[in-house]
Amino acid sequence: MRGGLSKTLALVGAAGLLAVSACGNSDDGGGSGDAAASKDVTVFTWWADGGEKAGLDGMVSVFNTECKDYKFVNSAVAGGAGSNAKQVLANDLQAGKPPSTFQAHAGAELRDYINAGQVDDVSGLYKEFGLDKAFPQNLIDNLTVDGKIYSIPANVHRANVVWANPTVLKKASLDGTKAPASIDAWIADLTKLKAAGVTAPLAISKGFAQEMLVEAVLLAELGPDKFIGLWDGKTDWAGGDVTAALNKYKTLLTFTNSDREAIDWPDALGYVNSGKAGYTLMGDWVAAQQLADKVPDTAYTYWPSPGTAGNFQYLADSFTLPTNGQNPEGAKCWLKVTGSADGQKAFNTKKGSIPARSDANPADYPKYQQVAMADWKKDKIVPSCAHGAACTLGQNNDILSAISQFSGSPDVAKLQSALGAAMKTS
Ligand code: GAL
Repeated sequence: MRGGLSKTLALVGAAGLLAVSACGNSDDGGGSGDAAASKDVTVFTWWADGGEKAGLDGMVSVFNTECKDYKFVNSAVAGGAGSNAKQVLANDLQAGKPPSTFQAHAGAELRDYINAGQVDDVSGLYKEFGLDKAFPQNLIDNLTVDGKIYSIPANVHRANVVWANPTVLKKASLDGTKAPASIDAWIADLTKLKAAGVTAPLAISKGFAQEMLVEAVLLAELGPDKFIGLWDGKTDWAGGDVTAALNKYKTLLTFTNSDREAIDWPDALGYVNSGKAGYTLMGDWVAAQQLADKVPDTAYTYWPSPGTAGNFQYLADSFTLPTNGQNPEGAKCWLKVTGSADGQKAFNTKKGSIPARSDANPADYPKYQQVAMADWKKDKIVPSCAHGAACTLGQNNDILSAISQFSGSPDVAKLQSALGAAMKTS
């Protein structure tokens, strides 16, 4: 765990760090308001439903016990990966109406908020709450930007996971417990499923889900070191290996549902659970959704996306202290809970993620997280662009728009040059 986190954040680079994300919708102004407002702690996330809300509720239950002077106010804006929330947050921050705290991603994404002067230094809270001892020192070192730390991590999620329905796979005599060894092997299995009558065997949704599939194919085809180089400038986006990988992504898209631009990730997961599709690629918030929907463990399998075994593609959610946010003292109580052993356990046991702290007991967690904790310790750690570890918000927006264009009209050369151009911006 300790080694994993430090490896992770080392990849992001000493200047990279925790990120921030969506914000609230309160009408209250800045830090000091009337008596009622001063009790309110507006917490801005995109965890509005299902397993994500269950995770948030876990954190809130600890907040309600530990922060009795304050009142939790839910400012969640629905939409996977903050697809709607991030814009709302940007508007609120721009309008000078920050919430008390907002959800953030570790990594490059945080720099946007730091550079815009929208988040406060919380280094002092690390000492006050004992987080300097709870988190691995290397993590703290890597979270430090010019001597300061700007958010408190709640978890670590894994992005490169495929979730499968073994009953569907049996239709083509495929073993649902084993990952295909490569993207080519996966395409061969998808072809067999299609021939067996599963018309759209790979369920996918709009925006960031397609971006995650692009990343998974690039990771499998280029390997972890060249993959990391795509984000830190050391790998040429114009290379023939990238072209070949994007062509495989194009082929994969031909096995997906035609309504992919109209649905979000829980719908794609629903296609797998209902037997309409065999697979979906999605981060391990899926484990939380399955738990919330009471889908039995026996009804689905999961493995690292084909060709990426031994690599843990990470992202981490964290919470920030917005500059001139509402009720900063109440927000600090939320941040204390975020970093605490009880808060991380209540949150992560329900959220599908693993704790960022180094003192968690795997036995307290569901089976999926036990597997993830073990992999986190031994795997090679690589960052996610779709979830802010490797890319800024601006880069990510450009990438999302190129991928969405490709979904409507697949042109590999155009996609490849748009991705390269996106990573040249800041
Ligand atoms: C990510 C976030 C996860 C989960 C996911 C799907 O960006 O870090 O915690 O919420 O989006 O909405």
